[in-house]
Amino acid sequence: MESKQGDPRPVGIFDSGIGGLTVAQAIHRILPGEQLIYVGDTAHMPYGDKSIELIRTYSIRIAQYLIDTHDCKALVIACNTASAAAYEYLRDQLKGKVPVINVIDPMVEFLVASHQIKHPGIIATKTTIGSGVYQEKLKRRKPGLQFSALATPLLAPMIEEGFYNNSVSHAILHEYLEQAELKNIDSLVLACTHYPLIKKEIEEYYGPGVNIIDSAMVVAEKLKYLLTKENLLHPSGKKKNDQFLVTDYAPHFEKTTRIFYGEGIHLEKIDL
Ligand code: DGL
Repeated sequence: MESKQGDPRPVGIFDSGIGGLTVAQAIHRILPGEQLIYVGDTAHMPYGDKSIELIRTYSIRIAQYLIDTHDCKALVIACNTASAAAYEYLRDQLKGKVPVINVIDPMVEFLVASHQIKHPGIIATKTTIGSGVYQEKLKRRKPGLQFSALATPLLAPMIEEGFYNNSVSHAILHEYLEQAELKNIDSLVLACTHYPLIKKEIEEYYGPGVNIIDSAMVVAEKLKYLLTKENLLHPSGKKKNDQFLVTDYAPHFEKTTRIFYGEGIHLEKIDL
């Protein structure tokens, strides 16, 4: 009989900044036995308005660091913008080294598998929407599926500044959601790390007729599936402490972690 050894090495997760902690939190909830090494590229955030080339340069540097310094067994790109700009590039560069998961493909799989969803809307940063990656993958996987995509670039900085569930977020959100692009949708994909924080407000705007979907849980489930399939789950027992690393440190980053992770966490600065 084949022995089930598993793999105690950590899972590497990275994002442009602190927002990817929404994904890290979902992974922690679903896979509490896994050690997580999180890198937030705070020195270069936001990624949402940067070029594809620059985001690829930043992403491969972080991925290489997670593999070389921390011996990560799998990588999660917990950032929609980096997933749109750099996933295929990273996957090809790291072939044979570690499996890489992004936040877009699991969501596309979820959308195309659903029989209820006939017309999803997608909101995200300028670079994610401008890359056309979601649109192209949906078209390829389910030809004929109607969908709408809208860049909502003010939302991530708004949330990062703590403006959610208040009159400012209400006004900005309504301005975006009233756009013609989002008319007649039956579901809305929150395709940005920050948007789970305004999920409730969006649900209130639409009421029960539109299903609001955030990718954190879908991605965490995908990671669990992959680690199980590849026999890479932590073999149980003692896991080492999770680490939360940033490429630039300022005290307000640490305060922001509370918003995205649900609890305050200690950030450590690294030089990349
Ligand atoms: N993490 C980014 C995303 O999910 C949002 C913040 C940024 O623009 O860097 O698209």
